[in-house]
Amino acid sequence: MLMSELIAKKRDGGTLSDGEIAFMIDGYTKGEIPDYQMSAMLMAMYFRGLDHDETVALTMSMMNSGDLVDLSGINGVKADKHSTGGVGDKTSLVLCPMVAAQGVKMAKMSGRGLGHTGGTIDKLESFPGFSCALSKERFFENVNRVGFAIASQTADIDPADKKLYALRDVTGTVAVRGLIVSSIMSKKLAAGADIIVLDVKTGSGGFMKTLDDARALAREMVDVGTAAGRRTAAVISDMDEPLGHAVGNALEVREAIDTLRGEHAGNLLELCLTIGSEILVAGGAAKDADEARARLQRSIDDGSALEKLAEFVEAQGGDKRAVYDTSLLPEAPVQYEAISECEGYVQRMDAEGVGLVSLHLGGGRATKESVIDLSVGLVLKKKTGDFVKTGESLATIHAADMESARQAADLLRKCYVIGADKPESNPFIKEIIRAE
Ligand code: URA
Repeated sequence: MLMSELIAKKRDGGTLSDGEIAFMIDGYTKGEIPDYQMSAMLMAMYFRGLDHDETVALTMSMMNSGDLVDLSGINGVKADKHSTGGVGDKTSLVLCPMVAAQGVKMAKMSGRGLGHTGGTIDKLESFPGFSCALSKERFFENVNRVGFAIASQTADIDPADKKLYALRDVTGTVAVRGLIVSSIMSKKLAAGADIIVLDVKTGSGGFMKTLDDARALAREMVDVGTAAGRRTAAVISDMDEPLGHAVGNALEVREAIDTLRGEHAGNLLELCLTIGSEILVAGGAAKDADEARARLQRSIDDGSALEKLAEFVEAQGGDKRAVYDTSLLPEAPVQYEAISECEGYVQRMDAEGVGLVSLHLGGGRATKESVIDLSVGLVLKKKTGDFVKTGESLATIHAADMESARQAADLLRKCYVIGADKPESNPFIKEIIRAE
């Protein structure tokens, strides 16, 4: 088989067979197929797309490119969740303790972020001493004992995705549905959980800007996961504005803790109750979504979810006192109000723009080498549908110095569309996609 022939076949609208895809992924992972040929293939895929069979074959070849995690050392069913990424997304920090408090184990692999804020691991490092670099034995032990653990994904899991994703990033070929599905699902399948719930965002701050695209992505991921024998579902939610109010690493950890204390009842909690219900029902811990929601809410009301978070932080080397006293988390030296220069209803927000304000403040990585400032970011005081008066604060900016705070406030004001009419409210949870 020649890679040049496969590139020409895809370029001309042909369909690659399972064997051809396996040959390509194996050769690329081993370094036998060079980046220039894989780049040409990715561009042909960008224009021609991948059909369902090609997507399944690609997912399986990528999954088999490295180690498959065997979670049988952990008792009971194991769940995992994956988010397609958004602004202010601290879902895992709230969801995992709630689900674990209700007896379903979460064995989660996570990454660091490249973009407006860090990934889940960066956020968790706001707890002094915390580490996600767990050996396999410690990961298993923590999941068994605490009910959940979050480990950084090791280099030997899905090496094909690491190489391919880096190449897609620099060749303008990230936004291909079949490539996104195979990238996400190969990692999740290799990580070994029995239940996989996908948190798919749609809107200005999400990967998929339209509901149709989000639905098609979610459906295909659920089909691939189901075909691989895993209980898989996807929850599609709105990302036309940031999730919750905080954007920035330690600030998001604070908001997650406040939510577990029962002090917030907005969209973040709603998303965690919805995803958590899918997991509890799939894991046999609740007979239906109503019972699951009631149990998850109880774990907030009785403090058991907050206690789970503290146990988890301690088990991964962090200072659990910060769960009960958030002044121990990193705090930025400057707090500055971004004042509205006009009056009216917030009609729309540019969620991605808000994320970029956090990046500007130093809360995210512009390149892999960037060092994140965990303390900076912003806490929104006004969101879509709220009325704001001239001179009222839109958000509190947390910054390293006054100059970056002022610049951030200018950038943030541009993310708000304010007008006379109150906008119609849209449902936050758009759809739940399950196995057919
Ligand atoms: N997240 C991933 O892990 N892979 C993609 O291709 C896109 C988002």
